[in-house]
Amino acid sequence: MAGPLRYDGKVVLVTGAGQGLGREYALLFADRGAAVVVNDLGGSFKGEGQSTRAADKVVEEIRAKGGKAVANYDSVEFGEKLVDTAIQNFGRIDIVINNAGILRDKSFARISDLDWDLIHKVHLRGSFSVTRAAWPHMKKNNYGRIIMTSSAAGIYGNFGQGNYSAAKLGLVGLSNTLSIEGRKYNIKCNAIAPSAGSRMTETVMPPELVAALKPEYVAPLVAYLCHEDTEETGGLFEVGAGWVSKLRWERTQGAVCRTATTKMTPEAVRDAWKDITDFDNATYPQSTTESTRHLIGILGDLDGGLGGKSSSRSSSSSSSSSGGGINVELAKAAKIKPTTFTYEPKDAILYALGVGYTTKDEDYLKFLFEGSEDFSVVPSFCILPSQASTFGSFSGGVPGLGVDVTKILHGEQYMELYKPFPANGKLTSQARVADVLDKGVGALILMEVDTYDEKKEKIAFNQSAIMVIGAGGFQGNKTSPALKALVKPPKRAPDASMAEKTCVDQAALYRLTGDRNPLHIDPSFAAMGGFKQPILHGMCSFGFATRHVMKTYANNDVSKIKAIKTRFSKPVLPGETIQTDMWKDGNRVLFQCKVVETGAVCLMGGYVDLYEGAGDAKPATQPSSGSNMKSDAVFEGMKQQLASRKDLVKKIKAVFGFEITQGGKTASEWTADVKNGDGDVYKGKPKSGKADCTIVISDDDFVDLVTGKLNGQTAFMQGKMKLKGNMMLAQKLGDLFKDQAKL
Ligand code: NAI
Repeated sequence: MAGPLRYDGKVVLVTGAGQGLGREYALLFADRGAAVVVNDLGGSFKGEGQSTRAADKVVEEIRAKGGKAVANYDSVEFGEKLVDTAIQNFGRIDIVINNAGILRDKSFARISDLDWDLIHKVHLRGSFSVTRAAWPHMKKNNYGRIIMTSSAAGIYGNFGQGNYSAAKLGLVGLSNTLSIEGRKYNIKCNAIAPSAGSRMTETVMPPELVAALKPEYVAPLVAYLCHEDTEETGGLFEVGAGWVSKLRWERTQGAVCRTATTKMTPEAVRDAWKDITDFDNATYPQSTTESTRHLIGILGDLDGGLGGKSSSRSSSSSSSSSGGGINVELAKAAKIKPTTFTYEPKDAILYALGVGYTTKDEDYLKFLFEGSEDFSVVPSFCILPSQASTFGSFSGGVPGLGVDVTKILHGEQYMELYKPFPANGKLTSQARVADVLDKGVGALILMEVDTYDEKKEKIAFNQSAIMVIGAGGFQGNKTSPALKALVKPPKRAPDASMAEKTCVDQAALYRLTGDRNPLHIDPSFAAMGGFKQPILHGMCSFGFATRHVMKTYANNDVSKIKAIKTRFSKPVLPGETIQTDMWKDGNRVLFQCKVVETGAVCLMGGYVDLYEGAGDAKPATQPSSGSNMKSDAVFEGMKQQLASRKDLVKKIKAVFGFEITQGGKTASEWTADVKNGDGDVYKGKPKSGKADCTIVISDDDFVDLVTGKLNGQTAFMQGKMKLKGNMMLAQKLGDLFKDQAKL
């Protein structure tokens, strides 16, 4: 629940806090309950001289308002001394704002060694020294928030600031690495590039701008980034005039400027320049692993792996291939042999278990027990005959498709169901290559498969978009009319959501249905691909999403499912929670799945088309209760959130009761026990006896509150929400709503 952000009990060290931005940070943190170490050397803006006056004045200001502050007059070069001041006066250090700074502007050729060194000593070395001194304390406390102050001059460059811009961008690099190293200790580190009128900017900005760009338009971002509820880390933000914006790296698809048989030359680079610099279809790499994985893919494709051995296809005689053994015309003309796929209920049940069906839910019995009256095969099961028919296609089975199978990524999947699958079957599948697209970074192969039942009636159609990393650049088409398009979800909050934790053995189970790629089970194989552990099959997440939509909008009736499409955008690790957000649009349910623990979107642009007449099915957003309360889905999400954030019990230490009303009467009661054991969220009154804080609110208002449409304080003031018991605890509820806020 949104409440004021407080810093009671936290100790903040702000460097260079004697004036300008630093002073504003110090005042804001102190005003919101923190104890502040006000550091300032008190020299000139060029870094000459020193004085105690600047820091003392700010400390006096804070104390006069009843706040807690002490001064420190050391240079940031001596980080230990600054941190000692915090420890000796307040016993701990929680937040470090590296803000102190000076300028020594000179055009590049005139920068002296002294100008270079001094700027680096104060900005880069100073931030390093202070943060390194604070780090062990933060690690020990399993808590830390750090800000690095960068600058637009570093990000974009600025005439006369070679020394300053180098140091300032260095701080972004330092922040990026600290955000990674700090992750397991709950230490978050972000960088900001502020704009504010100050003594420093007086030298470069007109007076009106200096007066207008108030430091108070920057400080709230710093405070927000340093709050205990903030999950953001490794971010870079521009901030000024009350505007805040996040920056990220963007990378073009690029071009491979050599082939398996031709050398990389300056001319090849020149000839590929358009592609190298073309930001259409740009990607946003987020880690060095992503970057390296990409290069390893290209090496593998061109050189047959890191050992430099030549792969079989590098000597293939494909006419239109630039390396990767792809010949589009040959592949499209290839006659692929039909395959048969025989299955019995045991196989359908194994598939259902693989995509998370469980006997815990009575509705699911018909997918798990062949003796059920209405035994059903999950529609997405149709991927199995399809995959079986394309097996071997990429490793020489289809002429013109000789690619390195270790470089294959399943990009997108579309399937169409013409009738439900019988309990047993002998199916025939006919595969073909519909098209091969040149995506620069790789080749996108569109494989299509028609599957027929024993009566020779078409039962399903599949289209798989398969990316072969490093096999692009063969001057082929970039798009194809054959490719089934993705659909963007609407901007509004989802109409329904369902979140479920996958089991740690989900991939181990799913692979038994047919896809035995070691990437999903063997840690060393996964590590070679740059993954920290084996990942879940994309088609397994696909099965989860299918199940969620079918349960929510089709009453688990397989005959209502007409088509399913999605893109695999990020991997899911077994044990993580998949949340499917759904939007209803006539007979179409658009969906997107995210990993609750990381917020990463794992399936995007997805939709399920329902057969006519099925579209009126009511969303069953309440997975287990069967009631029509919208809030039930919130509590289910809350339960998932709690299961994935064991630290919340320690942090919140409270039992919350919820009385959800409809038409003025209590319609359901829920308990969020964030105090005992690992915590639990369940329907009914608190098992422990009494709630520490009880929230009384209508079903609709509760959903509005969680989705941010209704502000907590406003709801309280307008009487829409009543609180009983310890009202202050209600502020802590925000943590439980966080990852499922967009219901
Ligand atoms: P300011 O000059 O008003 O404040 C900087 C403070 O740092 C001064 O009080 C100074 O005495 C102190 N300081 C300098 N060297 C120190 C040292 N070795 N040890 C301890 N304290 C020291 O400057 P302003 O504008 O408030 O800047 C704050 C930070 O924001 C700086 O890092 C600056 O580079 C950065 N920045 C500011 C921008 C702006 O528009 N104001 C633009 C981009 C970056």
